[in-house]
Amino acid sequence: MSQRTKIKALLESEQTNIEVTVKGWVRTFRNNQFIALNDGSTNSNIQIVVDFENTDPNLLKRITTGAALSVVGELVASLGKGQKVEVKAKQIEVLGDSDPEKYPLQPKKHSLEFLREIAHLRFRTNTFGAVFRVRNSLSYAVHTFFHERGFVYLHTPIITASDAEGAGETFHVTNFDLAYPPRTENGDVDFKQDFFGRATNLTVSGQLEGELGAMALSDIYTFGPTFRAENSNTTRHLAEFWMIEPEMAFYDLEDNMNLAEEFLKYLIGYVLKNNAEDIEFLSQRLAEEEKQKPQNERSETTLIEKLQFCLDNDFQRLTYTEAIDILKESTPNKKKKFTYLVEGWGTDLQSEHERYLVEKHFKKPVILTDYPKEIKAFYMRQNDDGKTVRAMDILFPGIGEIVGGSQREERLEKLEQRMTEMGIPTEELWWYLDTRRFGSCPHAGFGLGFERMVQFVTGMGNIRDVIPFPRFPKNAEF
Ligand code: 4AD
Ligand code: MG
Repeated sequence: MSQRTKIKALLESEQTNIEVTVKGWVRTFRNNQFIALNDGSTNSNIQIVVDFENTDPNLLKRITTGAALSVVGELVASLGKGQKVEVKAKQIEVLGDSDPEKYPLQPKKHSLEFLREIAHLRFRTNTFGAVFRVRNSLSYAVHTFFHERGFVYLHTPIITASDAEGAGETFHVTNFDLAYPPRTENGDVDFKQDFFGRATNLTVSGQLEGELGAMALSDIYTFGPTFRAENSNTTRHLAEFWMIEPEMAFYDLEDNMNLAEEFLKYLIGYVLKNNAEDIEFLSQRLAEEEKQKPQNERSETTLIEKLQFCLDNDFQRLTYTEAIDILKESTPNKKKKFTYLVEGWGTDLQSEHERYLVEKHFKKPVILTDYPKEIKAFYMRQNDDGKTVRAMDILFPGIGEIVGGSQREERLEKLEQRMTEMGIPTEELWWYLDTRRFGSCPHAGFGLGFERMVQFVTGMGNIRDVIPFPRFPKNAEF
């Protein structure tokens, strides 16, 4: 079984006129003669040439789209156009039949919506093959980036009792029979009797535990699944997504921004270099999609140009306050084109505002800093103005917020005071506060939404198409 050669290697082979074994799934079978076979190792198919006059007609009938084949044959220079080499079949075995009447993936263009409904099969399309190879490459690049810089990969818990972001959007974890949970004397659910002896939930962020690691190991990062029960049916939100959260001791916000910018550029550069074929394919796919739009909504730049542009330019850095001034004076605000008008200082930015700043005003990635403390989490370092905190959000074209981070409040009193103001129980987070009691120091970190990054790099419009099996409101199929 192990003797087969992957199609990627065959297509790159310098040698011809050698016997090879190739295995994969049939994409198309033309004229009873040419099989396009794909095994997922590359976007390209290998052409298998069948000597149909000397092949059992019953076997020929079983070579249908979707069938799994094992082919032994000779790798030869191709006579036809479109490929350098092909395989002249000597022996074909059908490993798994695929009834063409029932197989949902026909050799034609399917909509992304339809493919989402058959997510178990969509890996077999060119688009999803490319997306998931790029996703794989990006996750490898994440580890390489941090490894090269001496960061420690820390596994933070998935089940936790804390709501790190304090937004209350957690999924509960319980072993109770939900119809009859044990109750206390006053009728409340008695979590003391639950599996962990307390109420628990799936993590919304590994940051708080990440900070504990950084307070000893200096530089750490997490990379794991994160869960949010936000009822957001958008092209940017998932209920289960993957997040990368580095946390660095002795970093201030400036250092944090520098690292984040370097990191994002590294990831983009990595796939441009190592996934050229897939990125080229996705770039063309996007260009085709753009052609379907009315002229004035079309993007003038290709995916590859967009990626290269991000690599070549410094991200624009400005404060929230400066951004509000720009937005207040902007044409869509004055002409009341925004759904949410920017009236004054203090309001949270909507994605339409973020996208205006990035796509219309600066025309490049933007880092916004120093947000009002009211719209940010309790752990961010308070500025001397008493109004803002040392937060940073990185906004990307077509995506909006891709990174959220901050310098952390390392001063115990300030932190406790802010928690009290926000109604966050200090007793429950005693372990977090201990780092401020014993050897506290300035530190900072950020979180990159992995799927939003995959979206940006692949040009896919919907976040549900860059994770193998998306989880979103009213959907947990597969
Ligand atoms: O801005 P967020 O909520 O920040 C945190 O969780 C911090 N603890 C990070 C840190 O400082 N260590 O989330 C970080 C990023 C967002 O910028 C976004 O890219 C992504 O996570 N994100 C989501 N991605 C997909 N679906 C969702 N529902 C997301 N919510 C956040
Ligand atoms: Mg955020």
